[in-house]
Amino acid sequence: MTKVLIATEKPFAASAVEGIKDILTQAGFETVLLEKYADKSALLKAVEDVDAIIIRSDVIDNDVFDAAKNLKIVVRAGAGYDNVDLNSATQHNVCVMNTPGQNANAVAELVIGMLLFGARNRFNGTSGSELMGKKLGLLAYGNVGRNVARIAKGIGMEIYAFDPFTPKESMEKEGVKHVDTKEDLFKTCDVISLHIPATPETKGSINYELISMMPKKAVLVNTARKEIIDEEGVFKAMKDREDIKYYTDITPGNDAAMKEFGDRYFATPKKMGAQTGEANNNAGLAAANQIVDFIKNGVEKFRVNK
Ligand code: 3PG
Repeated sequence: MTKVLIATEKPFAASAVEGIKDILTQAGFETVLLEKYADKSALLKAVEDVDAIIIRSDVIDNDVFDAAKNLKIVVRAGAGYDNVDLNSATQHNVCVMNTPGQNANAVAELVIGMLLFGARNRFNGTSGSELMGKKLGLLAYGNVGRNVARIAKGIGMEIYAFDPFTPKESMEKEGVKHVDTKEDLFKTCDVISLHIPATPETKGSINYELISMMPKKAVLVNTARKEIIDEEGVFKAMKDREDIKYYTDITPGNDAAMKEFGDRYFATPKKMGAQTGEANNNAGLAAANQIVDFIKNGVEKFRVNK
């Protein structure tokens, strides 16, 4: 019988786990659940005899592929798959997929929530500011960026985006102003929201120079990966400029140092952009359906490795 492991250090909502199990049971597959595991050895043990794995930000490296002798497919229930060693997957003849777009609205709502929380001084009773009329800059206009734009439009923000992979016309059709360079985006916008993946090219790319270009009282929001941020650069820019604020959905590597910025800095306690029942259902069920389709019909839509 085909055995599917749900390996989530950060568990899905219970409804998503039930939904995944239903899909797999109907397909005649067995489901095994490994949640909140304490260390890698638990994961290595659990993968030994499974055919497929559903994960979130769980790290699937060469050791996992070596241990999982029957493995045919790994589906990352979510967008970013930098937590999976794609080369090792290919060498082990394992297909890797993601579920693009399935949790995009959840992340976008968190962006807006963090912005409102900051603009209203963390709801501390003092006089804050409004988002209406402010310039919002989206660094990348993919699934999350588009959802942020949709919500921000309702709030009355003026929206700009830089994305070399999205044609100017399609941005403009959606009421978003296209900018030619990343630098122009940072120079123009009161708020910058980051939606780029972590790749060798983007790692550390949000640096001192870029942040220093931001206008007075600018806010930087990161709900993407922490690796894209050059933390030393952020520290330096925030020390030079006492008007800059930084909100992040990932605890930075040097959280203690960031804390010195007081109200100008906020980090969620755990990565929670995609942490909603709806997003877990969307991504989890999509992952289960993709596994069934792959095992039964060889469908490789959303494959991300060669
Ligand atoms: C994603 O890449 O889809 C998000 O970062 C969600 O990550 P998570 O599943 O660990 O919450």
